[in-house]
Amino acid sequence: MIEVPADPGAGCHWILGVGVATLDIVNEVAAYPPEDAEVRALAQRQVRGGNVTNTLVVLNQLGRSCAWAGTLGDDPASGPILADLHRQGVDTRLARPHPGRTTPTSYIALSRATGSRTIVHYRDLPELTPADLAAGLDGLDPAWAGRCAWVHFEGRNPADTAAMIRLVRERLPWVRVSVELEKARPGTEQLPAGPDLILFSRAYALALGAADPGPFLAEQARRSTAECCTLAWGDAGAFGWTRAGGLTQATAWAPEQLVDTLGAGDVFNAAVIDGLLLGLALPAALDRANRLAGYKCGRLGLAGLVADAARAGFR
Ligand code: FRU
Repeated sequence: MIEVPADPGAGCHWILGVGVATLDIVNEVAAYPPEDAEVRALAQRQVRGGNVTNTLVVLNQLGRSCAWAGTLGDDPASGPILADLHRQGVDTRLARPHPGRTTPTSYIALSRATGSRTIVHYRDLPELTPADLAAGLDGLDPAWAGRCAWVHFEGRNPADTAAMIRLVRERLPWVRVSVELEKARPGTEQLPAGPDLILFSRAYALALGAADPGPFLAEQARRSTAECCTLAWGDAGAFGWTRAGGLTQATAWAPEQLVDTLGAGDVFNAAVIDGLLLGLALPAALDRANRLAGYKCGRLGLAGLVADAARAGFR
């Protein structure tokens, strides 16, 4: 079991998330169109997205103080992204602007027939570098930095992620570190050294040829230095592994109707981190994460998610 001290009080500790913020242009379509078709969107919304910022927003809804470190363009879309993060209580003092560059944009077809989301992502914005993160951490008020409890990375460039984990281990040696491996990229199969928790996605496992999630997770976990690993597998539930307890599985929580799966993995990750910070054992944290991610799939977007879920009985 990962040893995480229970949070002594909301606002006392905070969580840093390192990764991207995007503009999501979500077109709701009746069904996913065939190639070369022309279809009408039934509704459209433009929202801030990006795995790590989605996770931070949900952590904030769960009562956690959060800060984001990532890069920003200076085109018209970057203003609403910052405004959304501020509205949702996410501190952005570690954000690194890149004048003249554009906001990463996801063009998303959300199928009303299945709730699936198909994403075409465009980016030309540089990623946050270890030097950017070092400069940001150097500039922090030491009293505030001292209350950082957890640093969560969206695993992107493997060499930079590894360097940033080392940096955090040097500068903030008391924090817990987690890494999400959502997409297989050249070098990710080596697994970053140093995190306490690795959150694998089904897309990542499938890209590596996994047929059976449990054995895949156990194998990855054994190759890693992490104390704890998870793998969310949609309607087959979630798998977890701890060095002390081995493999565990939590059944999925399916909504009455699948409405919107966009960001469900980011919600799952937020609830796992929150559960471990609450001191829950991994099986209980997975079960709670499945319930929140499942509830999310039955409604549109992330706004007000935790409050709505709480009204429906989520604790
Ligand atoms: C959902 C998401 C979207 C974003 C895309 C980036 O998990 O973070 O908000 O556009 O994935 O890959």
